[in-house]
This record gives sequence, C-alpha cells and structure tokens, in this order.
Amino acid sequence: MNPYPTVSFTEMRRGTPGDFDLIDANDARTLCKLPDRILEHLRLTADDDGAYPIDRLQHVLQTATRAERDGADDDWVVAALLHDIGDILAPCSHGAVAAEILRPFVRADVAWVVHHHGAFQRAYYANRPESERNEREQYREHPHYGAALDFCRDWDQCSFDPGYDTLPLEHFEPLVRRVFARAPCSR
Ligand SMILES: [Fe+2]
Ligand SMILES: [Fe+2]
Repeated sequence: MNPYPTVSFTEMRRGTPGDFDLIDANDARTLCKLPDRILEHLRLTADDDGAYPIDRLQHVLQTATRAERDGADDDWVVAALLHDIGDILAPCSHGAVAAEILRPFVRADVAWVVHHHGAFQRAYYANRPESERNEREQYREHPHYGAALDFCRDWDQCSFDPGYDTLPLEHFEPLVRRVFARAPCSR
C-alpha cells in the first residue's frame, strides 16, 4: 500500500499545482532510492549464462578495482562500475543507457566515454572485420578519444580475469551513495 498522498487527476491536463507539488516530492524520494536501485541492478548482472570466464558483475567490479588502483577519481571509478549496467536490458545500446544514468552526476568527458565505450571495445573483437574493429576511428579527432582508448585498454578489455584480486561490491557502495547524492535531476 502506498503510504504517500496521490494526485487528484487521471489525466495530467487536469492536474492542479498541488498535484504537481506532490509529484515533485515523489521525484525527490525516487532520487534518494537511486543508489539502492543501482546496487540492486548491479547484483542482477551476476548471471551465470555468459561466455566470459567471470560474470558481468565480477567484470565491472574488476574494471572499477583497476580504475581505483590506478588512482582514478570518483567519476571514473563509478563509471567503471556502471559502464555495463545496461547490458541485460539494452544489449544493443548498453553504453548509451549507462551514460544516461551517470550523466547528471559525473563530468561530461566521463559520460561521453561510457556512452561510446562499445565502439572502442570492438577493436579487441578478433572475429570482426577490420571495418568494425576500426569503428572507434570515427572519433579520432574528438577531445575524449584518448580517454576512451585508455578506459578500454587499461580497465575494461582486461577485466575478465578470475585470478585478479577484485574488490567486492560492498567496497564500492559508499562511492555509489556519494556520487548519486551529488545533483538532483529535473524532468
Ligand atoms: Fe560494455
Ligand atoms: Fe565492460
């Protein structure tokens, strides 16, 4: 049962200012739940049907662990942790999904790299034609090309190692809570 008051309308066009105040208050509560929902969704990615030596959750934990151990700042570490969060819901556009989740809370360069990381990862797909493996070259002149190259080379493409000393999700919880408390989004 919903403990909160609800609006008077069934069509938005009939809403009163008070109704939309209620909606604004609800949006604020939704934002407060975001860190928990992100952590919950990350746990859902601990699947056992993948073709990699470790599951998706371990992959992103390892990516974030490498970023943190390289001295990366909060924006990069949280990006490493979330970069594949869209994988199980939007396998064809997972970078874009992750970037839009992160965008209100991180720097623009970090969101850009997350959005486009798929194109940079494809350089490592040994079974793909050259045209596909060179997809990243369309961004060669982009100011964040180098950052995307580094992100994938140093943190993402190498994070499938079951023998690596990967930090657990609990280690990154304070970071997730810190970053997603940074800015309210507006609709
Ligand atoms: Fe990815
Ligand atoms: Fe990845």
